[in-house]
Amino acid sequence: MANVAVIGAQWGDEGKGKVVDWLASRADVVVRYQGGHNAGHTLVVGNETYKLSLLPSGLVRGKLCVIGNGVVIDPEALLAEIARVRAQGLSVSPDTLRIADNAVLILPMHGALDRAREEARGDRKIGTTGRGIGPAYEDKVARRAIRVCDLAEPETLDAKLDELLRHHNTLLASLGAPTFDKQTVLARLLALAPEILPYVEPVWERLDTLRQAGKRILFEGAQAVMLDVDHGTYPYVTSSNTVAATAASGAGVGPHSVGFVLGIAKAYATRVGSGPFPSELHDDIGKGLGERGHEFGTVTGRPRRCGWFDAAMVRQAIKVSGIQGLVVTKLDVLDGLKELKLCTGYRIGDKVVKHLPAGMAAQAAAEPIFETMAGWTTSSRSMRTWAELPPAAIAYLRRIEELVEAPIALVSTSPERDDTIVVRDPFAD
Ligand code: IMP
Repeated sequence: MANVAVIGAQWGDEGKGKVVDWLASRADVVVRYQGGHNAGHTLVVGNETYKLSLLPSGLVRGKLCVIGNGVVIDPEALLAEIARVRAQGLSVSPDTLRIADNAVLILPMHGALDRAREEARGDRKIGTTGRGIGPAYEDKVARRAIRVCDLAEPETLDAKLDELLRHHNTLLASLGAPTFDKQTVLARLLALAPEILPYVEPVWERLDTLRQAGKRILFEGAQAVMLDVDHGTYPYVTSSNTVAATAASGAGVGPHSVGFVLGIAKAYATRVGSGPFPSELHDDIGKGLGERGHEFGTVTGRPRRCGWFDAAMVRQAIKVSGIQGLVVTKLDVLDGLKELKLCTGYRIGDKVVKHLPAGMAAQAAAEPIFETMAGWTTSSRSMRTWAELPPAAIAYLRRIEELVEAPIALVSTSPERDDTIVVRDPFAD
């Protein structure tokens, strides 16, 4: 049976929540495999709006949900989110949620260090969510992280906290930020342990059993390819690999189990935080896209920067992450624009390139090369078949397919789950 991995093909906030929710209804299990509570997935189901950060979106559909080893977990944020969705009527229990024993924990000093470093960067801020994601991944690679399984071993926690706090308190003090007391952190972790441990297991084993039983697994990516720590607009990126290959290492399955790779892209482009954005609009059209598309960060509430669809960048994201089918979301936000632009490459000095270069200065200097297309005056909102779309919208989508060199699998025409044009069911074998 086919599995599917869903990843963002731009800078995040492409509307993955709706697509994952739509696919979750066809899946048996939904797995998060990277990132943490920096992610924000909004799901609209009937009259209810769910905002999920760390919990897999499958929870809304009552599916088995798994948080894999590649995720960084803030236990306080996890418990708060569980309480919040329970208050909205969702059931969260060890029967519906499993958490990898070898996932890394985000602790209060990670957030403190993240924020203190951003402060110290002045006008060179990355624009992080301030939730400790980077420092937690740094600790993982430095082999001093506290992992979920450590919650069951008080002596391990005690010993690890010595090393962890030596490192973090030194850094925090050097930045003029308050330091942390070991006994306070230890006591809090020991108090949280009984609330977290019932969900914990080696999830790779469960996923292996499910896979062998022919169950459908949906891998839910967070952030997006252009925020990937290797392939994105470094250093203005998140601290994990966001490409689809991470679904294997971040969940504990083989690469062949990842299945069909579905990339999500908005019909235009947005970015939160700092960093290069060649097709960004600083005029009323950009403002209009932000207003019509309700472009405010789910996690931080920051207004998102808006721009034209950057086909060169999406093509690059498709190539480096093996995207086999593209979902174009929020097409209806473009309704009523007289003309549209597609970025097809960049001019850097006297050179023309088809991809965003790796160097910081080159990225900052990249001038977009635009192709102009006719817009449409009739509405594409809530259309459910290709044929109902305005002809200019069809031409726009077809041109995107050509430029990004990948087929469109789905088109989303409103936040409602069923307002989706299906060209190809990603779960079909
Ligand atoms: P961090 O992940 O908090 O370290 O932030 C690093 C960069 O990734 C910043 O530009 C954030 O705004 C961005 N970022 C992190 N998570 C998301 C997301 O879910 N959507 C969009 N941008 C994100």
